[in-house]
Amino acid sequence: MIIKEGVKKMFQVENIRKDFPILLRKVNGKPLIYFDNAATSQTPKQVIDVIVDYYTNYNANIHRGVHTLSQEATDKYEEARHKIQKHFNAKKAPEIIFTSGTTHSINIISSGFEALLNEGDEVIVSALEHHSNIVPWQMLCEKTGAILKVIPMNQLGELEINEYDKLLSKKTKLVFVNHISNALGTINPIKNIIDKAHKVGAAVLIDGAQACPHIKPDVQELDVDFYVASAHKICGPTGVGMLYGKEEWLNKLPPYQGGGEMIATVSFEKTTYADLPHKFEAGTPNICGGIAFGKAIDYMNAIGFEAIMSYENELLRYGTSQLLEIEGLTIYGQSKNKASVISFNLDGIHPYDVGTLLDKMGIAVRTGHHCAQPVMDYYKIPGTIRASFSFYNTKEEIDILVKGVKKAKLMLS
Ligand code: ALA
Repeated sequence: MIIKEGVKKMFQVENIRKDFPILLRKVNGKPLIYFDNAATSQTPKQVIDVIVDYYTNYNANIHRGVHTLSQEATDKYEEARHKIQKHFNAKKAPEIIFTSGTTHSINIISSGFEALLNEGDEVIVSALEHHSNIVPWQMLCEKTGAILKVIPMNQLGELEINEYDKLLSKKTKLVFVNHISNALGTINPIKNIIDKAHKVGAAVLIDGAQACPHIKPDVQELDVDFYVASAHKICGPTGVGMLYGKEEWLNKLPPYQGGGEMIATVSFEKTTYADLPHKFEAGTPNICGGIAFGKAIDYMNAIGFEAIMSYENELLRYGTSQLLEIEGLTIYGQSKNKASVISFNLDGIHPYDVGTLLDKMGIAVRTGHHCAQPVMDYYKIPGTIRASFSFYNTKEEIDILVKGVKKAKLMLS
């Protein structure tokens, strides 16, 4: 991506780092270098302050009370829903359902489709999926007799779109693809995937968990049927996420859970369900989490996604070139369209051992299969070392990582 001068000037990483108290801590006596952002992002003080304010000043249940605290909490929660609606450019606020995270969002849709699929119908996932976008669909297929098909990947870690074309038919009812692969960082051509699915009448769910820290998706422009994400990958808290669904789809699907607040009327003879979004929001939600999610979106937008992506691309290019200078180091996933994730291994060394030594140096990376075993199987490896960069990381930190990997290699060879 071309970095515009204006964007570059506005982006002051040293100032941004001051927003993240955790970046001041030491791990094993060394300054923390946090490169596990694809697992969860760190939280700026602006979001932490919102969480403290909620529990200090207006903790109450929502949509239930006439008292002041309940009204205040309800207003803030619904305000957060509107922020999320605006951020994703959904047509209406009720198309945004608060969930506990991406996995919960996916399960709402997969279980809802149980009533709509017949034996012999086909559903398509991609070879690059996280387990959370494989297992619920396998469970759905087991229950309905639908057939699961897989878009294959290539050595670069990209989806084989020609093969996708061959899988699509009138039997295809649903397509599920991640926007960005968590294991490799590949940015998938989702607009193309969505348009092709719609031509055969299939609905599409995009797992945006890894994309939302880097990209601002426009669900109307994408014309996507469902888009899901988690707050904790976008500087928000854990335990809260969102499901966007087109209104007509959400009206068609049955509720996921029964309980309070998702009903219109209840009697022992019959229950009728509440309108959107409440139909999918049974029970007391993560109120503070939802409000903090809205603040996290404000925070990211104040920096700007163009600036974030440009800066992270610089880190990706720099990290890739520096790591590739290490003999015996292989990077998995070399697509031209990539987010700031580098998955790599050292010849003959188990990723877990490298991760353990890096931790001793204060460097946090993820090691293992990253909940994407089919991707590891494709490369015939047990796992990788994954360094995932965020907009608050620096080239100096990458230099320390590269030194650390060299040291680990010497110690383990
Ligand atoms: N899905 C998260 C990751 O990729 C947890 O690490």
